[in-house]
Amino acid sequence: MHLREVDAYARLPLQVVGAEGNELILEGGRRLLDLYGGHCVNTLGAGDAGLGKVIQEQWKRLSFATNLVDHEPRRGFLSAFEGNLPPCDGGWSVFLANSGAEANDNALKHALAFTRRRKVVFFKGAFHGRTAAAAAVSDTKLAAFPSTPFDVVKLPWNDPEMAAKAIDTTVGAVILEPYQSLAGVTEPSMEFLNTLRRLCDRTGAVLIFDEVQTGNGRLGKPWASQHFGVVPDSFTTAKGAAGGLPIGITVIRTKMAQAVPGKLFGSTFGGGPLVLAAAAMVAHRVGQPQFLANVRATSEALKVAALRGPIASIRGAGLLLGLVVKPELKAATVRDLLLEQGVLIGTSDDPQVLRLSPALTLSPAEAPQLARALEALEVKA
Ligand SMILES: Cc1ncc(COP(=O)(O)O)c(C=O)c1O
Repeated sequence: MHLREVDAYARLPLQVVGAEGNELILEGGRRLLDLYGGHCVNTLGAGDAGLGKVIQEQWKRLSFATNLVDHEPRRGFLSAFEGNLPPCDGGWSVFLANSGAEANDNALKHALAFTRRRKVVFFKGAFHGRTAAAAAVSDTKLAAFPSTPFDVVKLPWNDPEMAAKAIDTTVGAVILEPYQSLAGVTEPSMEFLNTLRRLCDRTGAVLIFDEVQTGNGRLGKPWASQHFGVVPDSFTTAKGAAGGLPIGITVIRTKMAQAVPGKLFGSTFGGGPLVLAAAAMVAHRVGQPQFLANVRATSEALKVAALRGPIASIRGAGLLLGLVVKPELKAATVRDLLLEQGVLIGTSDDPQVLRLSPALTLSPAEAPQLARALEALEVKA
């Protein structure tokens, strides 16, 4: 075979042939507890029967339709999704696309058109995606284009004073992940979030939360804005919003959305019936109090299970947790050894931090497997 994929990913030495619930099945039948959850995508776990039924039936009834026509899955999605949104004067509007980067591009495009400004503030450690606009506000040279499509200012994370100096009436948007996941699950202080909200109110800049990872129930509330009690002007999500099908959602305060021409946005596949039937199902499940109660209970169980062996401390909320390894160790080494013990977990851009982002259906009863695996490790510095 001569066709190669570009070397975008450092693949783990695993041949996956299937998955059930929270387990990956490897060639030869070995099973791994998946505490990475397909990178926050498997909201309902692998092969959820209810979601499978919805997708199968939707495929038979109406597999795809152009955005020029309306259909029931769209109405069903809007209704289920609305039920989980934080209160907002005048309500929210959504635009539907296919990925997190696209959702962020659309949020930024809206914010700059709305404010008629051309500067965006982002933060050290941020990751918002690989398309031109999303990469411009990501703190990684690897995703960068030769130039940015608008002016950008990078500020330190969790520094309200620097934010107050930089955010003025020339800034069109301030974009942040409520928890910086790739940076190592770094938490914002409440003072930082409240300051950003106040500064955006004062200057007219649009406050954008990138909830590609923190949304859809991951923190134990539907959205990070409900977890922190700070509501942005616009927010985005993707990854787990359709439980495994590609989706990108930009949510904007309706009063702000209506102030720019809708024709700024468009997508062939975004808002198709199959993906929206799946997304409606996910939104419906996330809206159930017992679903979110399980996220919070499993989070507590994982924290207890994880604080042992090579792990020095834990940060994060819900089922987005950062495990900080002891100073003499490397997170990647611990990840590799955990694989030998039958547990898959993620790393991050911080060489000392591992990430847990399992399916939100993981149960507290599955957490002790992590404890046993960590106890079995013999990690040498
Ligand atoms: C916080 C955040 N924003 C945006 C993205 C980009 O999402 P996508 O890969 O779907 O474009 C990611 C992907 O990892 C992410 O973690």
